Amino acid sequence: MITISSISLAGGQGKSTTTLFLARLLASSGANVLVVDADPQSSLTTFLGFQVEADSPTLLEVLKKQEGVETKDGIYPTKYENLYLIPSDDALDKVQDYLSSSGRGALTLGRRLKTVSSLFDYCLIDSPPQRSQITLTSIGASNGMIIPVEVSVKGLKSLVRTLQLINELKDEDEEFGGSIVGILPFRDRWVGLRRTKESQNNIEAMQNLSIEFLNMDLLLPTIRESEKYKQAMNQGLTLHDMGQQDLAYPIEILAGKIKHLANPAEVLA
Ligand SMILES: Nc1ncnc2c1ncn2[C@@H]1O[C@H](COP(=O)(O)OP(=O)(O)O)[C@@H](O)[C@H]1O
Ligand SMILES: [Mg+2]
Repeated sequence: MITISSISLAGGQGKSTTTLFLARLLASSGANVLVVDADPQSSLTTFLGFQVEADSPTLLEVLKKQEGVETKDGIYPTKYENLYLIPSDDALDKVQDYLSSSGRGALTLGRRLKTVSSLFDYCLIDSPPQRSQITLTSIGASNGMIIPVEVSVKGLKSLVRTLQLINELKDEDEEFGGSIVGILPFRDRWVGLRRTKESQNNIEAMQNLSIEFLNMDLLLPTIRESEKYKQAMNQGLTLHDMGQQDLAYPIEILAGKIKHLANPAEVLA
């Protein structure tokens, strides 16, 4: 199992959107995919149309191993083939204290996931929008990180914070969080056949930040500003289902990179 987290230290950056569409694409290509909703706002649990039942284990109980809960007890099938979920609700916030008091909180999620790693090809973690114990344990569980960033001034600020955090963690331990799959510009605005001047400037600024912090340009093909994404989410469809192959392109590139991380030789062959 290869584990990838979506990390970006602000709301509205496209973390949950990216995780959703990537999970659906990987699952529809036949892979077994586990999605972990690690954000107490639980957008992904909602996007996947999943209702948390009062007494059923969620990510909170899985992390705390509450009353002998094992990781597999918190995994549920979704309405989509090959796609499974560890859901959350706002009670997940309570896990912050548990993680910080345990001393090895950054390694907790990775340890819990290890027990189910033979069951899945991919695990995708959707993380919260701020520096927190949950964000750290999400990064700690990862073989790779995707950094979605809104193409806006707010997005640029979020990117700086996110890259600072990653560099701090990498200074401690180069292996922590695995590799950076890429920076994914979200809500790139075009008018007709042209990218807006504002988007152009913000994307150039992202490239410069990537080079400044990571010594290379890790920008991925952008997700365009489009109502179609929201419509697909609301209707439980993929972009392919909606006949929006062009819009699906950045997700396909991302899936290709992740497959390559999982199995470098096979993709090259
Ligand atoms: N391509 C798109 N263009 C415009 N808005 C989008 C697009 N894709 C998703 N959205 C909307 O953007 C909002 C924020 O995205 P989300 O993935 O929830 O961000 P985050 O998880 O980083 O907080 C969501 O409400 C979603 O409906
Ligand atoms: Mg989110």
